[in-house]
Amino acid sequence: MYDFDTPAPRAGSGAIKWDLRESAFGNKDALPFWVADSDYMSPPEVTAAVADAAARCVFGYTAPTKAYREAVAGWVRARHGWEIDPDWIVPSTGIVSELSNIIRCFTKKGDGVLIQTPVYDPFSAVAESAGRRVVKNRLIRGEGLRYSMNFEDLDHKLSDGVKLMILCSPHNPVGRVWREEEVRAVAHLCRKHGVLLVSDEIHWDIVMPGNAHFTAGLAETPDDLIVLTAPSKTFNIAGLKCSNDIIPDEKLRERLTRWKEKRHIDGPNSLGAVACEAAYTHGAAWCSEQNDYLAGNAALVRKTLAACLPRVGVTPLEGTYLMWLDICATGLGSRFLCDRLTKAGAILNDGWRYGDDGFVRLNIACPRAQLQAGLEIIVRCLGEALGA
Ligand SMILES: Cc1ncc(COP(=O)(O)O)c(C=O)c1O
Repeated sequence: MYDFDTPAPRAGSGAIKWDLRESAFGNKDALPFWVADSDYMSPPEVTAAVADAAARCVFGYTAPTKAYREAVAGWVRARHGWEIDPDWIVPSTGIVSELSNIIRCFTKKGDGVLIQTPVYDPFSAVAESAGRRVVKNRLIRGEGLRYSMNFEDLDHKLSDGVKLMILCSPHNPVGRVWREEEVRAVAHLCRKHGVLLVSDEIHWDIVMPGNAHFTAGLAETPDDLIVLTAPSKTFNIAGLKCSNDIIPDEKLRERLTRWKEKRHIDGPNSLGAVACEAAYTHGAAWCSEQNDYLAGNAALVRKTLAACLPRVGVTPLEGTYLMWLDICATGLGSRFLCDRLTKAGAILNDGWRYGDDGFVRLNIACPRAQLQAGLEIIVRCLGEALGA
């Protein structure tokens, strides 16, 4: 059994989530539930591999080794049932910066980039900063706050000068693990309209019991597809800056590789590569236990809110460790409410930034005692807002 109950000593370590509480929110003592990383330790197998590499003092420029590529391919096969050629892997140093590279490499100024809102806000930021037009296909909020895709609108919007679609799978922040038929339908529509599908699957390992991730890599003959993956969310190693694009089509792969080479964009980070290889080689049991722990945390949130704040809705969490709470009943905007929550002692993300003002996002990847303490603050503060 791994330990998810002991907090990692993050305050004072430079951790954005902890050390920017004062400068970004004005409350240095608030409990942080915002940035999407975890507050327990990474797997011991990963930290041991990094410590071992550090002891050997080898930190020079690094290219992915055969063992690295095979470890990534092995994980993709074992965990996601996708048989990839290790040569399809293009290393990168983070998904968002790589998205920016991909948008600039494969589209032109003024081209449409489609996203499905509400969604992780850097998607629109990287497209807009490259001078691309952001086209929004809104998700539909259905029964029990479960979201689904509006395929009719997607079909229509993809025909409107869109050259690239970013699929967020599993979806941050609405917590959906898209079903096989949904992923296949997206791939089919992209193919129909000649749109490059970029599937951001950074959360693909974080799936709650009863759900199964279906990678876009299995959807269609993948010659117009880039799947973006990383060990960063799964194993809490985002600071090591290591991610992997999987690009089955040789022409596409070569084009991106040349584009990056020309601009001297390289990677991976040497310790990131060590951590990634160790995580994908030895991290399966830890990953499964983490999913169980997160499911327990999610159950605690649901139980507490149902008992104390029944007017606050909770979107079903199928994947990711980010819960999407419906605060519409307060009649207050999410920015205003998050400000109140911060003052009360808990930092959450406001839904407005993702495109839905009546919601807040709660990161539950923390020791249960921390979540419990945060929930007490949330219940008190939202209770006051609801006049309860
Ligand atoms: C969907 C999604 N993509 C990308 C990222 C960030 O990835 P990176 O740190 O590799 O840029 C996040 C982080 O929260 C995310 O939720």
